[in-house]
Amino acid sequence: MIKIKDLWKSYNDHHVLKGINLEIKTGETIVILGRSGVGKSVLLRHIMGIEKADSGSIEIEGVNISSLKGFALFRAVNEVGMLFQASALFDSMTVEENTAFYHSQHPDPREGRVLTKAERHERVQAALAMVGLEGTEEIMPSDLSGGMRKRAALARLIVYHPKVLLYDEPTTGLDPITAMSINDLIVKTQRELNATSIVVTHDICSTLHIADRIAVIHEGELIHFTTKKEFLTIKDPLVQAFLKNSIPEGVVNERPI
Ligand SMILES: Nc1ncnc2c1ncn2[C@@H]1O[C@H](COP(=O)(O)OP(=O)(O)OP(=O)(O)O)[C@@H](O)[C@H]1O
Ligand SMILES: [Mg+2]
Repeated sequence: MIKIKDLWKSYNDHHVLKGINLEIKTGETIVILGRSGVGKSVLLRHIMGIEKADSGSIEIEGVNISSLKGFALFRAVNEVGMLFQASALFDSMTVEENTAFYHSQHPDPREGRVLTKAERHERVQAALAMVGLEGTEEIMPSDLSGGMRKRAALARLIVYHPKVLLYDEPTTGLDPITAMSINDLIVKTQRELNATSIVVTHDICSTLHIADRIAVIHEGELIHFTTKKEFLTIKDPLVQAFLKNSIPEGVVNERPI
C-alpha cells in the first residue's frame, strides 16, 4: 500500500502540489492524468524519494519515507523503480551494460548480496527476453528506435524486480502500435512481478488499457480518483476533454469537400 497524505510542494512562489491525498493498493495499477505542468512528474519524484515535500507524508508499505534521509531513505525506496520521461539510458553503455547497471552498483534487494557475474548475466537475459529485446545486448542506445529505447529502459528497471514501478509518460512519442506493445508490457510486468504501478500519461487509450483506477490532478489537487468504468461516466468538462481528444475530429466528422 502507498499512502500519500496531504502532500504540499512549492518552488519559490509557485504552488505545484496543494494537498494531494492518494491511496494505492498493493498490486494495483493506477494512471494519473492531468494537463501539462500540473505536477505529475513532481509527484512521481516524491514517491521515488528524490524530492522532499514542504509538508505531508508518503508511506510505502507502512514506512513513512518523508521523514527519512541517507541510507534509511535509500533502503525504504530501494524497491521503487522509475521509467523516466526521457528513458534516461546511459548513452555510452550498450544495452547489456545499461540493463546490468543496477546490479553492478547495488546488492540485489531480495538476495541481500552482490550477484555473481553469471547471475547478473542471467538476470539481464531474463529482463531483455521479457521486453522482447533478445539479441540487442551489444547495441548502443543511439542505434535503437524510440520504442526499443523504452523497452531497454524497462528492462533496466525490471531487472531487479522492484515492488513499485513508476512510469512517466511511457508511450509519448511512439506510434500507436508500438505504444500498445509498451502498454502490454506494463500489464505483463505488473502481473509477473505483482508490482504496484503508477503510470503518468496523456494517452487515454493507454489509460483505458492498463488502469485499475484513474486519478486526475488539476491545479495541484486530486479532483477525481475512480475506477475505469466510473471514469467514463464523469460529467466534468476536463474529463470529457481527455476522452474527446482521444478520437481525432476528422474521424468523427465527415470533412467538407
Ligand atoms: N526543480 C524545480 N524547480 C522549479 N520548478 C519546478 C521544478 N520541478 C518542477 N517544477 C515546476 O513544477 C511544475 C510541474 O512540473 P512537472 O514536471 O511535474 O509537470 P508535469 O505535470 O509532469 O507536466 P508534463 O505533462 O508536461 O510532463 C512546472 O511548472 C515546473 O516548471
Ligand atoms: Mg512530466
